[in-house]
Amino acid sequence: MTIMVTGSFGQVGTELLESLVQIQGHSEVLATDIRIPDGDYEFETEVLDVTDQERIRYLIKKHSVTSIFHLAAILSALGERMQDRAFDVNLTGTFNILKAARDLGVEKVIIPSTIGVFGSETPRENVPAVTVERPETMYGITKVAAELLSSYFRRSFSLDVRGVRYPGLISYKTVPSAGTTDYAVDMIRYAVAGKGYVCYLKPDTVLPMMYMPDAINALLNVWLADGEKLRYALEYNIQAFSFSPAMLEKELRTHFPDFRVDYRPDYRQGIADSWPSSLDVTDAVRDWGFSCDYDFKTMVSDMIEHLEGKQTHWEK
Ligand code: SER
Repeated sequence: MTIMVTGSFGQVGTELLESLVQIQGHSEVLATDIRIPDGDYEFETEVLDVTDQERIRYLIKKHSVTSIFHLAAILSALGERMQDRAFDVNLTGTFNILKAARDLGVEKVIIPSTIGVFGSETPRENVPAVTVERPETMYGITKVAAELLSSYFRRSFSLDVRGVRYPGLISYKTVPSAGTTDYAVDMIRYAVAGKGYVCYLKPDTVLPMMYMPDAINALLNVWLADGEKLRYALEYNIQAFSFSPAMLEKELRTHFPDFRVDYRPDYRQGIADSWPSSLDVTDAVRDWGFSCDYDFKTMVSDMIEHLEGKQTHWEK
């Protein structure tokens, strides 16, 4: 039994691998990515560009892969600057993974979707699983297609494809930079470093968010859930809390009274404005028991505690 992870060294992959090794043992985890950063890893690594169908098939056979966590993706902000690459990685890459999994008998494929699938015609508050999905970014367009392809492979080929729609994810182990919600990680990081922060979103932009330990647990819970109970493929909305840059600034000031933020919105404001401010998580709770350990305040305190030790490492 081998679990293959694509995009292993990204924001989610880095932390998912740690959990998978704890659950499964290192011999059963294969980390792939387009580049493998130098380091000593307690699991096997292989270079993989998910646009390369033959290489995907070769690795599945070579390592007798039984589950795939397909995390490789170009996020919203970078996707607007690299549209061809976003299309190739997010859409062709996902189609390649699904086809290879179907043809080679992989038992489960887990793929995160995103709030990026929504657009300004989607209701803003408490968005249900099934709703209007007319996104306005390349990222969103490719991820809606990935959701539809996943449902199609479930229905037409009985491939067990599962996932969640992630909100903005907050974490301290990697420095995310390709997404629109990543301002939150940056703002906390700058506050801890004793610097002012220039925010690329307006102060009142409320977005759904979640702390990484809860995001990893959610993905693992979906992976291990009773398949009979899953009514959707990737359409499970999840979030822990919603907040705006101004709310985060205020919370950070309770820890760092001198902290200041300047607001200079750029093209990412348009992306954020097209996304909802909160999601209805009822389906995830009912079908596979979704829950979170961290609320807004405990997330901020935990981030600060961990970043205080890492400050030099993260200094820009
Ligand atoms: N965090 C993602 C982004 O901003 C949304 O899923 O692109």
